Amino acid sequence: MSFSKLGVTAFIALTLAAAAFAQDSTLAATPPMGWNSWNHFAGRVSDADVRAAADALVSSGMRDAGYIYVNIDDTWEGQRDAQGVIHTNDKFPDMKALADYVHSKGLKLGIYSGPGPKTCAGFEASYGHEEQDAKTYAAWGIDYLKYDLCSFTGIMRQQAPHDQPKQFELMKAAYQKMHQALVATGRPIVFSLCQYGWNDVWKWGPEVGGNLWRTTGDINDTWQRMADIGFNQLGLSKYAAPGHWNDPDMLEVGNGGMTSDEYRTHMSLWAILAAPLLAGNDLSKMTPDTLAILTNKEVIAVDQDALGKQGDRAFAVGLTEIWTRPLTGGALAAGLFNRDETEHPITLHLRDLGFSNQAKLRDLWQHQDVTAANGSYTVNVPPHAGVMLRVSQ
Ligand code: GLA
Repeated sequence: MSFSKLGVTAFIALTLAAAAFAQDSTLAATPPMGWNSWNHFAGRVSDADVRAAADALVSSGMRDAGYIYVNIDDTWEGQRDAQGVIHTNDKFPDMKALADYVHSKGLKLGIYSGPGPKTCAGFEASYGHEEQDAKTYAAWGIDYLKYDLCSFTGIMRQQAPHDQPKQFELMKAAYQKMHQALVATGRPIVFSLCQYGWNDVWKWGPEVGGNLWRTTGDINDTWQRMADIGFNQLGLSKYAAPGHWNDPDMLEVGNGGMTSDEYRTHMSLWAILAAPLLAGNDLSKMTPDTLAILTNKEVIAVDQDALGKQGDRAFAVGLTEIWTRPLTGGALAAGLFNRDETEHPITLHLRDLGFSNQAKLRDLWQHQDVTAANGSYTVNVPPHAGVMLRVSQ
């Protein structure tokens, strides 16, 4: 081989290595966005529902707003064959064909399993079949795996009775094992840990290959539960970074149990928390109001900010709270939230946030610039509502 040919070969090899690295480091570079079947369809979800969700993501403009992942949650699983290969159940006649369909729409497909013998809904999970399942997912064209602890707690108790530190090691090893199995397929597959925030998962989630990890038990479609989760994510901001996100659970926007103000608070808070935005409603039957909340581009831009820094609570007075999130270019997102049952004025003091009195303010739900008088901005916030601002110098 001549010197120049060698040079070209070396250049190609380097370029390929750089591309592989770039692919690794950009998997979940910003919090994953998409849809998940559980919050609305739960155990009823079928192939047709997933196709309808994919169609709706495109026709509603959600895909173009960033909602890319179409995630099938629990209850797609059938039985294993004599070789141990997992098959789908009757609700999902052909997973590869479904993946092809979803991909043809410019979307990605996610799936669900767990390290135990059974999923939370009692279906077949991956215990003892991790490599085999990872290969099956890759062959189907899966792009995202939510891996839910569920029955693995039984294995932990069985293998390390009354030994909690050992049980914790077993849990970490189980997540690590599936991570390695996914990596070994060579297909970039986002790895979503679901073990309800136990053992401070944010401290070791990246170590076991998690791109995101649930920080809490399940959300439901009530103000009480959503607010309990969202306003209790204090102190977790330092654990989030590109590729590694805290996950306060999926969105309930549009499922009908909260008011529009409450859903806007949900969306604003999740954006400040750099949370994955996985819509959980029936996308084929969305009201214009639900769609407007889910596709507010200015709020999504906060969630997806390239700096990848999660926000945290900055001030609290009674049941009013101000949460802030640093953004690219020295800007800041500020959520002024009223958790009370009555209206309250909330005041933002620019100097308290490190800005001069001349800082620019924009209301991200009103889509208009607003002005601070003498360096402070006061707004009357209705019960359970929030005002979302972008502050820049
Ligand atoms: C657990 C998870 C939920 C959902 C169900 C499915 O409860 O936390 O998000 O995946 O299992 O059975």
